[in-house]
Amino acid sequence: MKEIIVFSNRKGGTGKSSSVYNLGYFLSEKNKVLLIDFDSQGHLGVWAGLKQSKVKEKNIYISLVKFIKNKTIDKDDVFKIKENLYILPSNQDLSALDMELMNVENNKTVLKDFIIEIEEDYDYIIIDTEPAFGMTALNGYVAATQLIIPIKTDYLSMIGVSQLMSLYYKVKSTMNPSIEFVGILPTFYNKRTNLAKNLMKELIETFGKDKIFSPIRKDIKLSEAPYYGKSIFEFAKKSHGEQDYRKFGEEYLKKAGEKNGIR
Ligand SMILES: Nc1ncnc2c1ncn2[C@@H]1O[C@H](COP(=O)(O)OP(=O)(O)OP(=O)(O)O)[C@@H](O)[C@H]1O
Ligand SMILES: [Mg+2]
Repeated sequence: MKEIIVFSNRKGGTGKSSSVYNLGYFLSEKNKVLLIDFDSQGHLGVWAGLKQSKVKEKNIYISLVKFIKNKTIDKDDVFKIKENLYILPSNQDLSALDMELMNVENNKTVLKDFIIEIEEDYDYIIIDTEPAFGMTALNGYVAATQLIIPIKTDYLSMIGVSQLMSLYYKVKSTMNPSIEFVGILPTFYNKRTNLAKNLMKELIETFGKDKIFSPIRKDIKLSEAPYYGKSIFEFAKKSHGEQDYRKFGEEYLKKAGEKNGIR
């Protein structure tokens, strides 16, 4: 096991699911990767081209409830997307988890305890979270070794950044000292607007160059790819989206994955 990465932002539509899916696909070229959809919207399964009827049979909610009740995990509960890439999808049933967890003693560490049982099977586990900071997102932060925050490069999205950072510090100082903030991934970037350029500058000044990934440009191909159930690498080679997610993958490996000499 190398890393458990959580993607989070309490704002909606910042590119979390797109980034989880495409980074996962990129890393799976050389590593065994599991994607966990911890958002009841179930978008990761859509990116992976899974039918709703299949997700109904096997999903993270069913697996977690089974784990909470019987402490058992069936390793066949995951779907294989392709060589080295696996997914535990979700659907609207996951929204019942908050209620389910109310009477569970270690309700903030349920996902962590679950992952401990399977982490040896993978090099990377990447967790997608919902656009909120409820019980599921908190479980994601507690389970992770790394946090990446995708931020839309518009003004309103920037306003919540400091709040996100204080959530991170709170979790790090209390429930999960081993989580590291890897960086901010600017998304929906349009370099032709002064606003986007200024916001990038501001991000770099505030967090340091090291903590800001090269931006993902706005690209219609990224909104079309999930419709076809394909990663951007399969769907639109040489597109801006493909180039940017490849660069992100490479920067990720350089920034975070090379620690301890691993790739
Ligand atoms: N760089 C981009 N350019 C254009 N469209 C994009 C880009 N990134 C993502 N999209 C599209 O924008 C929508 C929102 O992206 P995505 O689902 O990744 O965001 P999210 O943060 O996971 O949203 P939510 O908060 O609802 O979970 C999707 O339809 C996606 O295909
Ligand atoms: Mg999403």
